[in-house]
Amino acid sequence: MSEYEKFDYDVLVIGAGGAGLRAAIEAKHRGLRVAIVCKSLLGKAHTVMAEGGAAAAMGNVWAEDNWKVHFRDTFRGGKMMGNWRMVQLHAQEAPDRIHELEAWGALFDRTKDGRIHQRDFGGHRYARLAHVGDRTGLELIRTLQQRAVALDIEVHMECKVLKLLHNASGELSGAIGYQRPTGKMLVFGAKSIVMATGGIGRSWKYSTNSWESTGDGHALALWAGADLIDMECVQFHPTGMVWPLSVRGLLVTEGVRGDGGVLRNSEGKRFMFDYIPPIFAAETADNEAEADRWYEDHINNRRPPELLPRDEVARSINSEVKAGRGSPHGGVFLDIGSRRSAEYIQRQLPSMYHQFKELAGVDITTEPMEVGPTCHYVMGGIKVDADSAATTASGLFAAGEVAAGLHGANRLGGNSLSDLLVFGRRAGMGASDFAEGRTSSTELLESEIEEAIAEAMAPFHREAGENPYDLQSDLQDTMQNLVGIIRTGSELTQALDEINVLKGRVKNLSVKGGLSYNPGWNLATDLPSMLSVCTMVTLGAIERKESRGGHTRDDYPGPDPELGKLNFVQRLTESGDYSVTPEPLPEMPDELKALLEEEGAH
Ligand code: FUM
Repeated sequence: MSEYEKFDYDVLVIGAGGAGLRAAIEAKHRGLRVAIVCKSLLGKAHTVMAEGGAAAAMGNVWAEDNWKVHFRDTFRGGKMMGNWRMVQLHAQEAPDRIHELEAWGALFDRTKDGRIHQRDFGGHRYARLAHVGDRTGLELIRTLQQRAVALDIEVHMECKVLKLLHNASGELSGAIGYQRPTGKMLVFGAKSIVMATGGIGRSWKYSTNSWESTGDGHALALWAGADLIDMECVQFHPTGMVWPLSVRGLLVTEGVRGDGGVLRNSEGKRFMFDYIPPIFAAETADNEAEADRWYEDHINNRRPPELLPRDEVARSINSEVKAGRGSPHGGVFLDIGSRRSAEYIQRQLPSMYHQFKELAGVDITTEPMEVGPTCHYVMGGIKVDADSAATTASGLFAAGEVAAGLHGANRLGGNSLSDLLVFGRRAGMGASDFAEGRTSSTELLESEIEEAIAEAMAPFHREAGENPYDLQSDLQDTMQNLVGIIRTGSELTQALDEINVLKGRVKNLSVKGGLSYNPGWNLATDLPSMLSVCTMVTLGAIERKESRGGHTRDDYPGPDPELGKLNFVQRLTESGDYSVTPEPLPEMPDELKALLEEEGAH
């Protein structure tokens, strides 16, 4: 029998980004035995890459703002494919979650009259993002982390979860992972589990995501029988660094555009005016000076075209580069230096200032930045019940980026930080209710534990297998080149074939060295998740024969109104295959439909 250390909890939270921390805090408030398991050190999570702010209709800068407008913006921004109830709860509860965070010690930037300041972001009708300069995600994590420490929540840091586990009756009852510093196996029994593992971006070559974002939670849930939806909807943030190559993909916050930055092509033209979709065109100036005046004064809430939703800006940049009007390193120029004072930039965007100065030798107060689209976020994910965050696998709950529904086919910037606060809390409540009501045993099946350990250790026993880094690099090339920002049927089929070849190769991985901090081994344990997730993204992309939000098909360039009414449910079948089944979106009540119809939906 293999060796492992065993722990028992009521609620186990996997992931320590904002959603995981918030869920664990909720369960702890209920007096339950709760623990967090996270792959990295506490405080290191992709949450910090939501730099520009957390969207919440507090009405501090624009008194006209309220949850109904936020509801409408989010639903429209998601190209009418969101889960209406999630969109409603998010819009209604986000302000309370921001105020709660402030009560727990978060230090937000202030308006002149001392309220929480709110900044402009794409697709939001009013300046709505509560922020801390351009370090909002960091402040959010710092605050939640302090709260978790104060509540004495147990944290198993640097522990990679390998599999979810069951009791003898087949009920979900725990998880197994290994400690990265020692290689020791840890087994967790739990009455309920919250999945809060974040995103999948590391499967693309250029991404804002750090090494942790390998889709572990999506795959663990899928393998445990939970449904995923709409995995084809992947967000390419319009502005990542493109140069130097070593940092290509690193986030350049939308806050730069929110604070007045503009995009120009190699001819110096502010090209976004050429890409205004009809709904916005009527509201937006047809010349730059006029648009600037509108922007400065916010007259009638008119918006600069750089603040169109992310999918639209990313596609526009892509088109400019393809048309030969890109910057020297394959992006476009983002200019804030000619539009704001150096003092303003250093105060509002300190991280951007230092990032470009130190990594690219560019002074953004005087020089433009070179930027281009970078894989940032997945809108698809684990299907959840809006109110309780319950997945379709009993005992499993999910929140944050790993869960789907709120953002539809495209996420508005700033909605992720408020998403993880609102639904992190709800997942904590749902998992606590479940744990409190559970009477069955959480004794785990020894055979499942043995199987998971044997699978994890197998790469050490193969003498002449493949290097995990070669596989990762091939997968990233496939996803970047064939399942990227613009897709086409033949390339997607080719991608699926390539992924299937990689699935064969993953069985022959070999790693060298010991158990302590072995990154090759860690990657070998990540690759099965990455391959499962990429399969789901590609299958969904093949099936969705339309262009909508974060899914653009060259061969189906427009939205199909009928497909826009469907979620694509992705699951593992009993025979071990993956299936994609269209299911109608939940029907929106008439009073919410009326909110959308008030000003015409786009
Ligand atoms: O651009 C940004 O600061 C990212 C924010 C977000 O993804 O919500």
